[in-house]
Amino acid sequence: MSNSRIPAVLTGLGTCLPPRTVTNDDLAQRLETSHEWIHSRTGIAGRRVVDAGTGTAELAAAAGSAALESAGRSSCDLVIVATTTPDRACPATAPQVASAMGLPGAAAFDLSAVCSGFVYGLSVAAAMIGAGTFGSVLVIGAERYSAIVDPQDRGTAVIFGDGAGAVLLERGQESVGQGAVLHTELGSDGTGNELITVPPGERYLRMKGREVYTRAVPTMVESARRVAAAVGWQPEDIDAFVGHQANLRILESVAKRLGLPPERMITNIEEVGNTAAASIPLALASAADRGLLTPGDRVVLTAFGGGLTWGSAALLWPDLRPVHR
Ligand code: UT7
Repeated sequence: MSNSRIPAVLTGLGTCLPPRTVTNDDLAQRLETSHEWIHSRTGIAGRRVVDAGTGTAELAAAAGSAALESAGRSSCDLVIVATTTPDRACPATAPQVASAMGLPGAAAFDLSAVCSGFVYGLSVAAAMIGAGTFGSVLVIGAERYSAIVDPQDRGTAVIFGDGAGAVLLERGQESVGQGAVLHTELGSDGTGNELITVPPGERYLRMKGREVYTRAVPTMVESARRVAAAVGWQPEDIDAFVGHQANLRILESVAKRLGLPPERMITNIEEVGNTAAASIPLALASAADRGLLTPGDRVVLTAFGGGLTWGSAALLWPDLRPVHR
């Protein structure tokens, strides 16, 4: 993806996490697993899970409204919902989300790139702003994995959680100012499509975790290096690396191979687990709340997941306060 002509600037950040936490001990009561195994192998201590009746669209609309509030805006031109777990196969989730948010007439579509969906959405949004098609775009990552996780499968049930995170991108003045999305890069390898899949006709997700793990680390490292090189950064120039929160050990390996000290690697997986398309905006909000991001910081976002898909974005951190719903 080439740099946009009109700068796209991140101006708002919002989240919505369901209030109910399922702890590792809760899972160990019905699965052959333990807090010790889950925490040491993944870094996860708990994940949020929606109650019956709460859908992906509801989470998405709440996170989207929070992002608009964070930006001090009441409307936007386009709503992109990145999700693997829409409430219905047809129609798309995004028009319902836009209506629920009180955005009559806004363009709206879903984007399906599994755990890379947020970075794909950011890339599409920045390109559309860059081309002058839209002036403001909400990119929402929203997931309800509890709908597709087999409660008896310890390989996936311990990992995934529900939630939504969103950013507002707007047409900006400065191409290298605070909040500017400087560059994005995306990729895929469909030969790995069986590694994370809901098989045709089946209800539940199946994942070959070990194989995904092995492929995630080098692919994320290469993608992060490519996006950094495209904007003239050495990997060690990165102030904050925000990887898809799939597994703490994956994030640690990626940071180490990039030569980054552990404190520059952002993680919130302990509290929320792997929330797929929602994971990067949730991690960004958590880091901003904890004061780990300073305006002007050089931030790299890198995702990897089902498809297989991957992608990275390089941006300069804006001056904003996340809003939570
Ligand atoms: O978000 C999209 C992308 N997804 C990912 O990036 C996920 C990447 N993969 C992973 O995070 C890890 O592969 C897992 C967390 C899914 C699994 O961890 P692992 O260290 O790769 O374990 P493994 O699958 O190689 O299994 C090791 C052992 C096996 O037992 P044996 O064969 O050694 O006796 C498993 O049966 O651990 C066993 N095991 C468990 N034991 C207790 C697998 N899951 C569990 C569990 N509790 N929940």
